[in-house]
Amino acid sequence: MKITVIGAGNVGATTAQRLADKALANEIVLVDVLEGIPQGKALDMYEATPVEKVDTRVLGTNSYDETANSDIVIITAGIARKPGMSRDDLMNTNSAIVKSCAESAVAKSPNAIFIVVSNPLDVMAYVAMKVAGLPRHRIIGMAGILDTARFRSFIALELNVSVEDVNAFVLGGHGDTMVPLARYSTVAGIPITELMDSATVERLIKRTRDGGIEIVNYLKTGSAYYAPSSATVVMVESIVKDKKRILPCSVYLQGEYGLNGMFVGVPVKLGKSGMEKIIEVKLNADEQAALAKSAGDVQGNIAKLKL
Ligand code: APR
Repeated sequence: MKITVIGAGNVGATTAQRLADKALANEIVLVDVLEGIPQGKALDMYEATPVEKVDTRVLGTNSYDETANSDIVIITAGIARKPGMSRDDLMNTNSAIVKSCAESAVAKSPNAIFIVVSNPLDVMAYVAMKVAGLPRHRIIGMAGILDTARFRSFIALELNVSVEDVNAFVLGGHGDTMVPLARYSTVAGIPITELMDSATVERLIKRTRDGGIEIVNYLKTGSAYYAPSSATVVMVESIVKDKKRILPCSVYLQGEYGLNGMFVGVPVKLGKSGMEKIIEVKLNADEQAALAKSAGDVQGNIAKLKL
């Protein structure tokens, strides 16, 4: 198993470190345009492997030659948000970066499964799919696991229960219009709507929607990376171990949920082929309308792209 991580910044380096620590690959290649940064971080990570007792080679580089024949390519390159910015404000800069990364990576690893993390996530996944000419089962955006992890953490805090027993469900784009679904969010199988009043549920949903900017406002110089990298690694693990987990991910819809032609977050099965199935759940009219609005926002941004 060979995994390339493009972007050796906060998200990329933390993802590479988590992958190495969990021994999910024999070889990890960390790529960045900055000279010395991927090399230094990768060497530092490799020097941790004897202590961590994992046989993972970690290599840093500024070229794509070393990425050849990767099984999985993770794109985290791009600029991160600062206070006052929405994810959509990153679009022009990051679409050019993601385009060049996807083109260079697919030329060396035409059979890889691509995971996109750069924001605005749903639009960047579309860019990568188009420029790399990927079939939709091999291009998946990371967002829903992060959004549900945030929702799960807030539910656990509110009820003072273990995060392990909390499951959550979030649909839609990775932005202000994401659709956290309370009735499918549970604690040990019990819907949260039976455990807290509706004002509390709404407060937690709002905090989940604003979860990214809450971190940006604290950090001031960048955006979240510990939880985003954990979420990315869960996807990799399900693919590498062919676990067939059902996880919320951003995938290209072709009629599912009545939507067509854009990436949006839905529950999918992840296994060794990548996205193996889209799970369609029954939505009520309000939920369907919220999802359609979220998808419409993504489509509006796709229309603005100059590829
Ligand atoms: N090729 C490779 N790496 C690139 C390129 C490129 N064309 N352009 C920029 N990079 C690198 C930068 O040099 C930097 O090291 O991407 C890295 C980004 O790292 P950070 O600035 O630390 O940003 P990070 O927090 O990792 O976020 C990256 O992920 O979650 C999203 O919204 C976030 O879009 C952002 C991305």
